[in-house]
This record gives sequence, structure tokens and C-alpha cells, in this order.
Amino acid sequence: MLKICCIGAGYVGGPTMAMIAKQCPDIQVTVVDINEKRIAAWQSESLPIYEPGLDKVVQAALNRNLFFSTDVDAAIREADIVFVSVNTPTKTFGEGAGCASDLQYWELCARRIKEVSTSDKIIVEKSTLPVRTAEAMERVLHAGNRSVHFEVLSNPEFLAEGTAISDLEDPDRVLVGGRETPSGQEAIQELVDIYARWVPRERILTTNVWSAELSKLTANAFLAQRVSSINAISALCEATDANVAEVAHAIGTDQRIGSKFLRASIGFGGSCFKKDILNLVYLCETYGLHEPAEYWRQVVVMNEYQESRFVIRMLRSMFNTIAGKRIALFGFAFKADTGDTRESPAIRICRKLVEEHARVVITDPQAIENAKLEIPDLLDRVEFEEDPYAAAEGAHAIALLTEWDQFKQLDYQRIYQSMVQPAFLFDGRNMLDHDALFEMGYEVFSIGKGMKSHL
Ligand code: UDX
Ligand code: UDX
Repeated sequence: MLKICCIGAGYVGGPTMAMIAKQCPDIQVTVVDINEKRIAAWQSESLPIYEPGLDKVVQAALNRNLFFSTDVDAAIREADIVFVSVNTPTKTFGEGAGCASDLQYWELCARRIKEVSTSDKIIVEKSTLPVRTAEAMERVLHAGNRSVHFEVLSNPEFLAEGTAISDLEDPDRVLVGGRETPSGQEAIQELVDIYARWVPRERILTTNVWSAELSKLTANAFLAQRVSSINAISALCEATDANVAEVAHAIGTDQRIGSKFLRASIGFGGSCFKKDILNLVYLCETYGLHEPAEYWRQVVVMNEYQESRFVIRMLRSMFNTIAGKRIALFGFAFKADTGDTRESPAIRICRKLVEEHARVVITDPQAIENAKLEIPDLLDRVEFEEDPYAAAEGAHAIALLTEWDQFKQLDYQRIYQSMVQPAFLFDGRNMLDHDALFEMGYEVFSIGKGMKSHL
């Protein structure tokens, strides 16, 4: 029986391995993690991450051919293929701080694999890594004793949170990069054969290992760039009475541009976009490519501008003072259908509002517990409220920060009546019916459409 081990039971490792186990009952999949609580949660009724449809996939294979464990060494030793899906955060110290990837967990994994392995293995990079990491890994894995052979592949994950299950079940493409040597090609084939159980063969792309590594960074940079591009236009729309939704629709019908990823917003969040772009910037700089580095850095600069602009707009509209005013944040997750708050624009927006001495109340259908972890220093100055109606009661303003469907269904007339007048609503996701809200009496601002005011 083919045995797979995955190190890192996070947002990427957990769902990806659950899908492989579900699709391939004859392959034994063991997911390991140093975090005991996380491993216990994967084996329980309440999974450690919220992801629509994930529970069914896990249930289909759990304890059949899908196992979760903290015994990292045993799982590595037994495995034919080891996926590494540990976190690679942006470095916070030393050379490249704030830009480069912190590879310490990755290298520790490589050293562990080398130490405990007694048979040849394929090592698969799932974490997003700088280009040429595979080479460094090969050197660590093959240093000294060369009795065991390791073949390093890059198999970046393209799933998006909230849609992870359908992205895994029916991916646009699966990318497998490996060495151009016979053993490299053999390893590629072995991994391709696994995905080919459920992914059409023509959607499984194979490349050299560096192209695979760079494609992941590039894909995320392109996606983030689209968001920053439309957000840049949203500022201009507000200044000119153009409507960003209309502009996005008009340009999106051009097939060369396409309609996706053109939603103006308070900015992109999530664990990947900013980290990966900064990583790309650092890589460009490392190779002396200053202009490409600056070009990509601007995508992040634009994102930060969009967050600040939103708060300034709130402040100016509310008569230049929000001190002591109750403000309800509708949504804290970085996008809908996830409880993930990593790099959520809501974090910075919340901080800026608190700096202005606003009384912030946070409501979110899934992310309240994670939100608390993001702002530990503000817990005595911020309230959390599960019920959006209660959050808005007595508030001067609502700021809608996450596009949860639930927020569309609310009775805004009822909410209006419970708020302090004039009641402000700032739609950071452009998802509500602004004309209807204005009719109800709200002062309505939305990104790229500007302010509708009775005053
Ligand atoms: C991770 C990376 O952050 C990302 O760059 C990559 O694209 C995919 O993998 P994610 O799954 O979202 O993304 O990270 P996270 O939820 O933090 O999971 C990583 C897990 O690895 C954690 O549960 C952590 O406990 C575990 N880990 C970390 C180990 O088991 N061993 C280590 O040495 C370090
Ligand atoms: C992203 C990539 O899409 C995925 O392929 C990769 O594997 C990991 O990074 P994810 O971060 O889960 O996935 O979410 P995504 O849907 O890409 O959204 C990222 C951010 O951009 C969110 O904050 C979202 O709200 C924002 N966004 C997205 C917009 O503001 N406007 C858009 O039109 C699209």
C-alpha cells in the first residue's frame, strides 16, 4: 500500500490530504503536526478550520485511510511520499525582515526527514516557497550520509479558502514540478498518477521544479494585482461619480480581461497574497532586479492605501470625530465562508478606529474566536457580539468588512431604528442595496460609488 505523510495539518495540508484520502481509498494518508490541539480537533466533530463541505470529505476517509497524528517521526519513516505543508511566514528579523520567507520550519522538517528516514522518499513542497528552495532542501537532505535518496518535487496548492473543497475536487490545474533527471521524471509521474485518479490528465501540468515554485508566487501576485488595480480605480470613481461596479462589469466582459477578481473592496487579506508578493519582491531584489521589485511592491502599497482611505472616509463623513461613538464591524474574516482572519483588512481597520477612540463592536458568523487572537492588546477596548442586530444597537455606524451572505439577509430597517441618528453605513464590499438603504434613511458610503447623504 502506498503511504503518504503530510507535515502540517493547517488550512492547506488538512483539506488537501483529506481529498487525496477520499479519492484514493487504497493509499494510506497520515497528516502530522506538532500542535496536539489541532490534531485532536481533526479527529473530532468540530474541525480546527471552517470550510464548507470539509467535514463530509474528512468523514468519508477518517480512520479508513486518513489518519491524524502527532508522531511525526513514525509517519515520515513509513511514508513513500512526504508532503511538507508547514507555515512559511514573512521573516520578522534579520536580513530580509518584512519581505523574505522565514524558512526555519521548512529546514527543520527537512532535517527531521533526513534523520529518521531509512528508505527512499519523494519530498513534496506544498508550502509556498521562494524559487530554488528545492535546491537548498536537496542539499540538506543529501548532506553527509547518502544511502537514502530523496527526490524533491514542487506541487504548489492553488485552493482558495471558502471554496477549498470544490477547488480540490475540480481544480483548474494541478502543477507538479520536478528535476529533469530520470529519477525526477519518475517521481513526477508517481505524483501525477495520484491526482489523475480524479483530475483530468490534461489539467495536470508538469514543469521543471523552479517554474513550479515561481508559478505559485506569480499566480498570487497576479490575483492580488487585479484587486489592487480595481481598488485604485475605485478611488478615482469616488472622485468622478463613476461607479466601480459598472466599470468592472464593462471591462470584465472583454475576454482578454475576464470578469473575475474585479470586486473593489477594503483590500485583500489572507495568509498568502501579501506574503507571496513580498517574497517575490525580495527575490527580485536578490537578483538585482530593482524595477520589477518596485513594480510588485506597489500592489501591497495600494492595498494599504485602500484600508487607510476607508477609515479616513468614515472619519470625515462622521463629522471628523468618532471618539466615543459605537461602531459595529460586520465581518472580521478576510473573506466570506472562512473563519480565517490572517492579514484581514479588518485588523488594521479595527486598530485605526480604536486609535480614534471609537467604541468598536465586532460581529462575524465564524471568525470571532480568531479575531480575539488577532487583537489581544485591544480586548478591553473592543466588544464581540455574535448577533449582528445586538452589535448595531445604539451604534452610530456599521462598517461592512466581510461579504458574508448572512449580512445581505438582515432586516436593515429594524437595524436603522435601533441606531443613533444619523445612522451611517459603510459598505466595504459593495454588496448591499445602497438605494434601498438610502431610502430607509441611512447615510450610505460604498467603495467606488461614494457617499449618498441626506445631510
Ligand atoms: C501553509 C503556509 O503558510 C503557506 O505558505 C503554504 O502555501 C501552505 O501551507 P496553512 O496551511 O494555511 O499554509 O498554514 P497553517 O494553517 O499555519 O498550518 C501549518 C501547520 O504546520 C500548523 O498547524 C503548524 O503547527 C504545523 N507545523 C509547523 C508543524 O507541524 N511543524 C513545524 O515545524 C512547523
Ligand atoms: C488565494 C488564491 O486565490 C489561491 O489560489 C491561493 O492558493 C491562496 O491565496 P485565498 O487567500 O484563500 O486564496 O482567497 P482569495 O479568494 O484569493 O481572496 C484573497 C483576498 O482578496 C480576500 O481578502 C478577498 O476578499 C480579496 N478579493 C478577492 C477582493 O477584494 N476582490 C476580489 O475581486 C477578489
